[in-house]
Amino acid sequence: MTVYTHRDVNVLAIETSCDETACSIVRNGREVLSNAIFTQMHIHREYGGVVPEIASRNHLEKINDVVDKAILDAGLHKEDIDVIAVTSTPGLIGALVVGVATAKTMAYALSKPLVGVHHIAGHIAANYLDHGELEPPFISLVISGGHTSVIDVKDYNEHEVIGQTLDDAAGEAFDKVGILLGLTYPAGKDMDELARSAIKNNVSPVYFKRTYLEKGSPHFSFSGIKTRVMNYIRANKDDPIDKEAIALGFHEAVTDVLVKKTMDMAKRRNRKKIVLAGGVAANSLIRNKFKEEGEAQGFEVYLPGLGMCTDNAAMIASAGYYKYISGGISDYYLDAVSNTGLQRRILLKSRKQRFAPSL
Ligand code: KG4
Ligand code: ZN
Repeated sequence: MTVYTHRDVNVLAIETSCDETACSIVRNGREVLSNAIFTQMHIHREYGGVVPEIASRNHLEKINDVVDKAILDAGLHKEDIDVIAVTSTPGLIGALVVGVATAKTMAYALSKPLVGVHHIAGHIAANYLDHGELEPPFISLVISGGHTSVIDVKDYNEHEVIGQTLDDAAGEAFDKVGILLGLTYPAGKDMDELARSAIKNNVSPVYFKRTYLEKGSPHFSFSGIKTRVMNYIRANKDDPIDKEAIALGFHEAVTDVLVKKTMDMAKRRNRKKIVLAGGVAANSLIRNKFKEEGEAQGFEVYLPGLGMCTDNAAMIASAGYYKYISGGISDYYLDAVSNTGLQRRILLKSRKQRFAPSL
């Protein structure tokens, strides 16, 4: 049995911002002791997207079992937990409330500190779990179902959002284009498979115009590519559509923009490390292109393991640990907030407000 020194900090984290009910225990921000997840994906699939009310109800039904499993899997007792962390923003409000209420109750009952975590800070921290040597500063590209942001991670708790999507998130574009091609929600993984199979079969990609916005813009826009795919399908409605050629063309258009903008921002900020995060970071073509281009342009590229790309509570525990050791403890007024920018936390911190009420 592991003997914990007084220096070890076991963080139990809860994540319920969307459709995963998750609880994990991570030691010292880096070592995953357990990572329990109940995914509701199969429940929402038939609706073509996450239904907020159904998500909340399922979180409520499962949260206690998932927390018990995380503690059991870690081989710990409740008394061995030092900190309770929870995703408090952004996300579906009813879903977040379930996690926040559970975390507050546990923190109060066990007399442990409570730490509210920003979901995006969690996605970035997922990389600390898979890359023991990784430390800030670096540039992170967060690409998920709800977010697309380039973030200058100056320190563990100092994030500056440099660029973000002006419309759809990258994952949303994958899901919407996938549905145009007859795939089911969430379509990212199946789109990835279609594109890989196109490469294997030597299929020529359909060319779709890239959206870079004005010269030097750090921002993204993905609604245009979705429309271009839709127009292409309509214009070729008499031919049997070549799904592989479309999927590969879509991947190339999206990947070119993601790689160019991220690397331009890293150069501008003089960062040598580029860190990917979020569900879309599981995409094999995006991963390969970042590695390849990173090598060519002299960047160290860090990719989270596939299990660490999509939502989980271990990433929240890691981010919660770094917030806790810098004094970022929340009080019992911690609120679930559906949409808080990552940067707002930094502004609050710089004004020396220890208790950021919305985080
Ligand atoms: O990070 P995540 O689990 O949830 C959010 O915080 O949004 O990301 C989910 C998104 C979905 O849009 C899903 O289609 C996409 O990640 N995704 C992928 C892949 N695996 C999941 N997109 C592209 N390629 C993949 N292999
Ligand atoms: Zn997420």
